[in-house]
Amino acid sequence: MTKPTPPLVSGALPVLGHAAEFQRNRPRLIRRGFEEHGGVFAIKLANQNVAVVIGPEHQKTFFLETDGRLNIQEPYHFLQAMFGEVLFLAPHDEYLRQRPLVQELFKREKMLHYVDVMQEVVQAWLDGLGDSGEMELTSEIGVLVQEVAGNCFLGPEVHQAIGREFWDLYADLSRALDPLLPPNLPLPKFHKRDKAKTRMTDILRPIIAERRANPDKYNDFLQDIINKAGQDGQPVDEELVRNLLVALMFAGHETTAGQAAWTIILLLQHPGYLHKVLTEIDEVAPAGVHIDPKRMVQLDHIAWAVREIERLHPSADMLMRVAKEDIEFGDYLIPAGWLVQVAQEIGHKLPAYFDQPEQFDPLRFSPDRAEDKQHRFGLFGFGGGTHKCSGMNFANNEMTIITALLFREFELELVTKNPQIERGLGASRPSETVIRYRRRKPALVEPELASAAQGTSNI
Ligand code: HEM
Repeated sequence: MTKPTPPLVSGALPVLGHAAEFQRNRPRLIRRGFEEHGGVFAIKLANQNVAVVIGPEHQKTFFLETDGRLNIQEPYHFLQAMFGEVLFLAPHDEYLRQRPLVQELFKREKMLHYVDVMQEVVQAWLDGLGDSGEMELTSEIGVLVQEVAGNCFLGPEVHQAIGREFWDLYADLSRALDPLLPPNLPLPKFHKRDKAKTRMTDILRPIIAERRANPDKYNDFLQDIINKAGQDGQPVDEELVRNLLVALMFAGHETTAGQAAWTIILLLQHPGYLHKVLTEIDEVAPAGVHIDPKRMVQLDHIAWAVREIERLHPSADMLMRVAKEDIEFGDYLIPAGWLVQVAQEIGHKLPAYFDQPEQFDPLRFSPDRAEDKQHRFGLFGFGGGTHKCSGMNFANNEMTIITALLFREFELELVTKNPQIERGLGASRPSETVIRYRRRKPALVEPELASAAQGTSNI
């Protein structure tokens, strides 16, 4: 007997369905659906049927299904006007051709270099802060993460020369993100987007040509993409180099900035745990000490805090696919043509997997509790399966470095006591958050570390 389609959540309006509520407060809608119907239910966004699936087993099916049956390209099609046919926005064959290129960028020896670049950039930012003051954390971290991305992806020379203009153009692209309107309507925001793309092409063309002529001179993403020949032995064409660069900037900066800012905020809101973090920094990487891979892997309390933020405040809080065939989820059949979504908002807060799930409790990831190991698909802030985030280690390393360096250099205090979540089309982040900072005096004492650094690196 054919299984039924998922039950509809209450509150659907004629014509609009749940679209207005989804726009206004999607966590509330998803929570209500889960309370009414459990792990598989339906919402309606105007005439689009959407199935929401929650719980590690359903999340597993979602992530392990093939692109042919549960397609990732279609629901994100609106991003194509910004990035072109790149990564999972490209047809599947093209995606498979591009994927090794991107994986190459995150190889271990590359990552070691990027971690050094991250430290230089974050240290330069800290040096420029003066001895005390106030800052708006969310935007400040946003610019810092742009600096890191610019220096790692474009390289310091190019970033210094064109970085600011590049990010301004990027903002014009970003403002034109629109999942509803056809991307070629004659609207000012789409016109600006196209102008920005043309300007980016003009800026990057001579740079790419110079890089092609000097394959050994630079060490950054841009050079690695250019040096990598395609499977056919031909160099990667200019348009793809440009598209990959811009797409990686997008994938990597607002997401990381949001979670980095939340990490700092939640640590300040939990002084007991912060004390553990400060003690750890003092022992492993006190002021002036370079964080090499051996020290990095000893910053456990920061790593667990970063993971707890992935659970509580994932930047990408809802992931989508389109069913290309009928697909079963538990007792239900999701018909071809439906949108399928997973939602960290509930999926990360199931009491069966996470003890007191609403609490900030990074020790849940310590080896004796290891709540994230209970099910491979219980924690999925970086997705899972084929499309799992390629930049996960990059992002986690960056958030660790920002947290360690900032807290070892400054005493911090939250002026905005209770920041809220701001949800955007790209990534969620904290609302405006003012913090007060004062340089630590004296600097943390340098301990005997020569023989202390041990362990294997997961950088
Ligand atoms: C905290 C920061 C980040 C978060 C929360 C995050 C989250 C995610 C998620 C959830 C996905 C899967 C999307 C889906 O299945 O629908 C993804 C994919 C991806 N991310 Fe990230 N990401 C972060 C940082 C980065 C960085 C720094 C980069 C690169 C510089 C990056 C590059 C990518 C790429 C290339 C993919 C596509 C993988 C594929 O389809 O093969 N991300 N990310």
